[in-house]
Amino acid sequence: MSGKLAGKVCVVTGGARGIGRAVVHAYAAQGAQVHAIDRFADEIEAVAAGARASGHTVTAWPLDLQDDGAVEATFRRIEQQAGRIDVLVNNAAIIFFKAIEDTSIAEWDQLIAINLRGPFLCSRAVAPGMKARKSGAIINVSSKAGVQGGNDETAYCASKFGIEGFSRALSIEMQPYNVSVNTITPGHPVHTAMSETTYAPEMRKIWIDPAEIAPAFVHLALQTASGINDRYIKAWDLAQDLANGVVS
Ligand SMILES: NC(=O)c1ccc[n+]([C@@H]2O[C@H](COP(=O)([O-])OP(=O)(O)OC[C@H]3O[C@@H](n4cnc5c(N)ncnc54)[C@H](O)[C@@H]3O)[C@@H](O)[C@H]2O)c1
Repeated sequence: MSGKLAGKVCVVTGGARGIGRAVVHAYAAQGAQVHAIDRFADEIEAVAAGARASGHTVTAWPLDLQDDGAVEATFRRIEQQAGRIDVLVNNAAIIFFKAIEDTSIAEWDQLIAINLRGPFLCSRAVAPGMKARKSGAIINVSSKAGVQGGNDETAYCASKFGIEGFSRALSIEMQPYNVSVNTITPGHPVHTAMSETTYAPEMRKIWIDPAEIAPAFVHLALQTASGINDRYIKAWDLAQDLANGVVS
């Protein structure tokens, strides 16, 4: 298999839809062995089957990231099968818009469990192997909501500001082991299942297919601690720079 990611073992969470699905296909097209996780078993199996029909190497792992025991077991099985994990993309997330008094404790806990505790569990599972091999890349999908507040978004903003803090601390911890840790935000409206429920009409006029920002995820997967590291990356800007040869 040739390509920028040939020989790399990559895990992508939330791979059944939207940005995650685009990243699964982009990584596979660049020669990676991709392990795609999602809570929707039929959809993630279909994504993997479609990729395999194109000659790519994608394995589907149906998994709810809220189930900490299942997360641990799944990553152990992936490592046993593949021998190692080189790249982790913590992409899966949910969103809702509610005033704080209308947000139930169960809704708050579920969103934080998926958007923040999930990346912690997945990163905790891959970190020992990456540290031992002194190589790897962890990409945490953030949002504009990770750097500025939004109305009726206390839970989502808390999770995305949380992923920013988590990433800054993890990048310091992983730096001596040559592992890069970055956050990434689309940086341009993208058409996904999530944005179908969140975007205003004017944003729907300019939304793009997530495949257009996927090259930025490929580039971050190639980074070491001395490359792009400990940064909040706008995927659209980086994809444009790559397309224009500003970054190579
Ligand atoms: N779409 C946007 O405009 C936008 C903007 C900024 C940031 N983001 C971020 O980008 C990422 C992807 O968003 P998207 O728009 O592609 O969303 P999406 O809803 O289209 O896809 C998210 C995927 O995550 C999966 N998922 C959710 N909960 C899960 C769980 N408990 N276990 C396993 N899988 C689970 C879903 O099944 C789905 O396949 C998210 O982190 C989101 O916060 C999106």
